[in-house]
Amino acid sequence: MSVRQPLVAGNWKMNGSQAESAKLLAGIKQGLGSVKKAQVVVCPPFILIPLAAKELQGTSAAWGGQNLDTHKSGAYTGEVSGPMLKDAGCAYVIVGHSERRAMYGETDQVVAEKFKAAQEAGLIPILCVGELLAEREANQTEAVVARQLDAVVNLVGVAALAKSVVAYEPVWAIGTGKTASPQQAQDVHRFIRARVAGKDAKIADNLKILYGGSMKGSNAKELIAQPDIDGGLIGGASLVAEEFLTICRAPD
Ligand code: PGA
Repeated sequence: MSVRQPLVAGNWKMNGSQAESAKLLAGIKQGLGSVKKAQVVVCPPFILIPLAAKELQGTSAAWGGQNLDTHKSGAYTGEVSGPMLKDAGCAYVIVGHSERRAMYGETDQVVAEKFKAAQEAGLIPILCVGELLAEREANQTEAVVARQLDAVVNLVGVAALAKSVVAYEPVWAIGTGKTASPQQAQDVHRFIRARVAGKDAKIADNLKILYGGSMKGSNAKELIAQPDIDGGLIGGASLVAEEFLTICRAPD
């Protein structure tokens, strides 16, 4: 079995002034030396990316966007492209977050196209998948996650997953304080890895699969200790430097 380097990414969502963000970034930067194993990533709102670049340049941390457009440039008012994120020093971009799917109408097909656009720009997509509460209750979790994953694999091919990260984020756990139990999360992570392994065992073995949904300092360790959980995608808890750093240190 391969040794996958853990990754912890902060998804700031639509939070933070310049001043608050500078403080948060300084706090994260100061604590990076205490993080032994995880690759640390922050994903601020677009307008704060240059600030993250300035603060984190030359450190072990990387930064990324929360979304991108499928096009490279042109008349797409209000959008930001993969090449623009790359130009701002981003290494990663979140694709298909459940808030984008639910509130901005992103279909599996659009998400797959964004994944492709991210890789074409040289960015590593963090592909989010996950079921709604009603879908879990109807025993549809695996079917939903498979559909979301397959849409991407069908467009770009399984080999493209080698340069990506998957985040399993049960929608009922996001921002609700209700975390999936380590076993619930592990079951879906194992399912995702097995589904990829059905196409390519080596890519599946190397694929980082993050858990997201109310992960915090107090529950990160037991989640990340699961065999198929390789880190976290952190919303609320990524807005407090010490809390975020505690999660980043969880794999140590
Ligand atoms: P949360 O968000 O940690 O606040 O639940 C996670 C996410 O939406 O990525």
